[in-house]
Amino acid sequence: MRSYYIRTFGCQMNKHDSERVAGVLEERGLVPSPAIDDADVIIFNTCCVRETADERLYGQVSSLKALKTGGRPDVIIAVGGCVGQRDGELVFAHAPHVDIVFGTHNIHELPALLDAAESGRRTASVLPSGDRFASDLPSHREDAWHAWVSITVGCDNHCAYCIVPSVRGAERSRAFEDITAEVGRLVADGVVEVTLLGQNVNSYGRDRYGQPRFAELLQAVGSSGVARVRFATSHPKDLSPRTIAAMRDIPAVMPYLHLPFQAGSNRTLAAMNRGYTREQYLSLAASIRDAIPDIALSTDIIVGFPGETEDDFAQTIDLVERVGFEHAFTFIYSPREGTPAASMSDSVPREVVQDRFDRLASLVQTLSYDANRRQIGLVQDVLVEGPSRRDPTVLATRTPHHRLVHVPVPDGASADALAGRILVARITGAHPWFLSGEFVASTV
Ligand code: 5AD
Ligand code: SF4
Repeated sequence: MRSYYIRTFGCQMNKHDSERVAGVLEERGLVPSPAIDDADVIIFNTCCVRETADERLYGQVSSLKALKTGGRPDVIIAVGGCVGQRDGELVFAHAPHVDIVFGTHNIHELPALLDAAESGRRTASVLPSGDRFASDLPSHREDAWHAWVSITVGCDNHCAYCIVPSVRGAERSRAFEDITAEVGRLVADGVVEVTLLGQNVNSYGRDRYGQPRFAELLQAVGSSGVARVRFATSHPKDLSPRTIAAMRDIPAVMPYLHLPFQAGSNRTLAAMNRGYTREQYLSLAASIRDAIPDIALSTDIIVGFPGETEDDFAQTIDLVERVGFEHAFTFIYSPREGTPAASMSDSVPREVVQDRFDRLASLVQTLSYDANRRQIGLVQDVLVEGPSRRDPTVLATRTPHHRLVHVPVPDGASADALAGRILVARITGAHPWFLSGEFVASTV
């Protein structure tokens, strides 16, 4: 039987899309291959949001050249996702042994593209936009207990540094009934956690006049019988009081919010075209903590945006301290060709950016470690994700606040059989990026 292997770079939307690519390939009769070198069809689902992901992709694709020239000429190599969308046929110039290039709007075309590749034709197919949601395609979920459900695609925001609007297109909301019907099917299929996905979930429904908005969607998904509802990503300027109330009132919606602020100074926020001030962000964070006192807040921060001064950066540090994020993802600014920021002068010297990044990373680690230490002794419902990747004698589990807790696999139990179960654990130890725990005896 012919087999496939998918390597996914980047964000949760790409993980979602990869599950759909797998679904489309399996409908065609292909089976997953555990190793990339043994697969007949190799797919790279790519990311171009920062230069590092971009470079890694081309590095990995070229390392497969040896596979094709050394005895396996029939292997089909496909590059899809954001780099496929951005580069189109140019991918062939960078990597001549690639057979298929596809974009972000045409996963459904893969069978036709494979037909072409199998008959020896190299094809790049990239649609400028699309009205099909990858969520409507068949899926092979990576975890039986979890599902990604896309609710919007694209982005209308045009943050000055961001390539996403040009590779994912304008924002479109998926029909409310299609989302709730999908969630209903997933619940019937045993899914216990869904993550609603969009570049800006808070603007869900804006393009469907008179239709339900994100708060109503949370209500509907939260009462579908699924145990846990998560969502990403939220844009601060569109997070409504009704959504905060929905998070507070719907038990299945988890007390965790990822709310990127990107930069702490008003000058940088304006240059980034983010649409809010630091004062507005701080007051939003305060109102969220007021409504949901034990919420875990996480964020994205970019260091070294063009023109960032030491004073601008000090305001980023200050904002992190004031909000006291439980977690933060920190990025060094990476110029992306075609974005407004790429042509801004005044770039910050590399060593200055690295020094700021290191200071921020150390603050973020301290905050996260402090928050973790405050968990010791607490008893929490944890969802078992499966064996830990590093140590199969330990289970990776998540609290409602999305904290990772390592718990020893109970005697006689199988880590895989426990995946998807919600058990009760006592937190016994804290580390900077995870917790240790033990199951409360009666639950296992
Ligand atoms: N450089 C660095 N970080 C970026 N991000 C998006 N574009 C860039 C860029 N050009 C970060 C933002 C976003 C996260 C997904 O990636 O923080 O929230
Ligand atoms: Fe990029 Fe801004 Fe849209 Fe997020 S909101 S995808 S950072 S343009």
